[in-house]
Amino acid sequence: MRIGIMTGGGDAPGLNGIIESASRVLLSHGAEVIGICDGFEGIFSGRTKPITRDSINGIHAVAGTYLGTSNKSKLHGRSEEFQTGFRSLKLDGLIAAGGDGTFKGIRELAPDVKVIGVPKTIDNDLQGTEITFGYDTACSVVSESVDSLRATANAHHRVMVIETMGRSAGWIALGGGLSSYADVILIPERPFSRPKLSKFLTNAHAAGKPGMVVVVSEAAKAIGEDPIFSTSPHSTGIRFGGIGERLARWIEQNSPWEARHVVLGHLQRARYPTTTDRFLTASMGAKAATLALTHQWNRAVVYRNGIVTDAPLSDIQGEPREVDPEHRWVKLCEALGIFI
Ligand code: F6P
Repeated sequence: MRIGIMTGGGDAPGLNGIIESASRVLLSHGAEVIGICDGFEGIFSGRTKPITRDSINGIHAVAGTYLGTSNKSKLHGRSEEFQTGFRSLKLDGLIAAGGDGTFKGIRELAPDVKVIGVPKTIDNDLQGTEITFGYDTACSVVSESVDSLRATANAHHRVMVIETMGRSAGWIALGGGLSSYADVILIPERPFSRPKLSKFLTNAHAAGKPGMVVVVSEAAKAIGEDPIFSTSPHSTGIRFGGIGERLARWIEQNSPWEARHVVLGHLQRARYPTTTDRFLTASMGAKAATLALTHQWNRAVVYRNGIVTDAPLSDIQGEPREVDPEHRWVKLCEALGIFI
């Protein structure tokens, strides 16, 4: 068998774990593994890397992707070009680690391609799976930042506002903020009350709290307001960001605190994967390889009820999986006295 592997969309910690794990299993069963460079771009231009046991040994511990990726490919009207490129690679099937856009793209360009999808995003917002790899690492970056910035917040008697990624889903802010006991967590799914937030911060100041840490998700918004976003000539989608700075200025005007902000940005994606993400990608990559070796195509590798299993590829497509505003982690925040 000759199996292609590609990574598409924004990078996420653990992509290299999927490449190493899937390749090890495929190679040990005598399959040939072809790495496709830079996501869809590699198929359009026929750029590949042969994968050997030596070339991928140990890459699971490294951030980024050994194969490169692309999340800005213009796909519209390029179906024939894609199919010609794909045919010339002479593959029996494709293992693709990507997000919603990657799988939608493959389906639109080449509905007949035999594919196995491994859902990926630090945002943890894909349908059909309870967790995506990269999410735990992104949460670690947030929680370590909260721990560090609490020290400087206390030293200067300030509020430190930390802006996280996540697009329309608050999973990263919630997971990272809760695990580090941030004082305030603001997520898009629970628009916040400005008067209540002002009162919470003012009361904490009056009670003699030395400093405070606020974690705000990039698309969080106050009640009745819109999230802050911009557009870019380089992509079709919108880009969230700017709430951290805006909120810090607002806190200074609406509470007794001085405030500063930090945008964690792509540091949340650029970290070497945590042990949890390594376990997840070791299992998911191996599962993807097994599905390919047994010709079970058009399946997605998912995590459900504590195990890595598979489901129809269509299960992981659709609207983002957002945080239930009454999720048990939200309840835990409230029990711990965190403003959410
Ligand atoms: O979807 C993952 C993500 O990291 C989002 O949380 C964030 O808004 C976006 O990608 C940033 O993407 P880009 O790499 O285009 O800046």
